[in-house]
Amino acid sequence: MGRVIGSEAIEDAGARGRVVFELLPGDIVTDVARETAARLRIRLVDGPLERPAPISADGNTAMRRAMYRRSTRWVAPAAASREARRFTKLALVGAGGVGSNIAHLAANADMADEIALIDIAPGLAAATALDLNHTSGITGTTARCTGGEDLGLVSSADVVVVTAGRARSPGMTRADLIDVNRRVIHAAADAIRTQAPEAIVIVVTNPLDEMTTEMLRATGFPRERVLGMAGTLDSSRFRNALAMAAGVTPADVEAIALGSHGDEMAPIPSLARIKGAPLDKFLSAAQIEECVKDAVTGGGQVVALKKSGSATIAPAHSSVELLDHIRGARVGPVPVSVMLDGEYGIEGVVLGVPAYLGVSGLVDVEELSLADAERDTLRHAADAIKARLAS
Ligand code: 2OP
Repeated sequence: MGRVIGSEAIEDAGARGRVVFELLPGDIVTDVARETAARLRIRLVDGPLERPAPISADGNTAMRRAMYRRSTRWVAPAAASREARRFTKLALVGAGGVGSNIAHLAANADMADEIALIDIAPGLAAATALDLNHTSGITGTTARCTGGEDLGLVSSADVVVVTAGRARSPGMTRADLIDVNRRVIHAAADAIRTQAPEAIVIVVTNPLDEMTTEMLRATGFPRERVLGMAGTLDSSRFRNALAMAAGVTPADVEAIALGSHGDEMAPIPSLARIKGAPLDKFLSAAQIEECVKDAVTGGGQVVALKKSGSATIAPAHSSVELLDHIRGARVGPVPVSVMLDGEYGIEGVVLGVPAYLGVSGLVDVEELSLADAERDTLRHAADAIKARLAS
């Protein structure tokens, strides 16, 4: 007879650092358990899974192991690193602050055989690649970095991350960059379409939602293979703001931001949790409002301080979060900008939504039940993006 898997069993698996929970034929999983699994990013996997080969052990240890495995709380061992795929080639179009930080993180994580950097600034990409290769004697990474000015270097990449384009100056909105960066995206798209026709493309160039749309149109790739990076960054900023306001560590905070990567961003307070509890247990309505504002204006705050150029480190980490989902090093839904096809009642617009990613890119969009005002913000964002692209 199957077991009834409740949220407690999933919480328990999470507390022990598990990322996979084995379901056996006949098991019944409650809705709350499924939500808990999604929240804790634990993947529910149909079993039975292949058991590890028996290891000889003394009688006591053997009995403890046997009892543990028979328990209803048996979960598969953490499988992140075993399951993670290694890219053959990761190409980065743009070797400025964001591109070079992505290369650095990707090389340290040893996630690709080759990391190719491309930038029009003479010598920049080649110099950064050489600099990164010089770290390998310390880090031991086997990823080889190459660099140059020719977009043809994207050739045969499995994933291309596009960060090239102009960044904002103080006082500019991301939307002000639409005309200048559209040309950059089209040049990159031509090279990707012809030289890396099977690649998954992650767009980071602003204005994000519009540039992801341009990339989708110009490559002619299916929506599964053209993603925009924004939600991971905006969510991290939202979590940071909530953690600071509540005086807890960011690991105690679960929160996501959806919608557009701009003024129409939609941080989602109704689904956010601090230590598993709704926000109002820790924060006043005014404090929550401030945290939402902080997430929406976070990028602009960095631009204002820097005077020239925008954030680089958090956007790089946020791009790597998407790469990790694609290669299977992280599981569960992640906020990502994709072309919507009726999800959330929106069609034909690229917008940030929670989605599952895998080796072929987008696997599935997750439809959350949002508060009415949050759903309205998403619709408003969709209308604003449509209007900007049309003009
Ligand atoms: C940001 O929000 C660069 O758009 C990016 O910092």
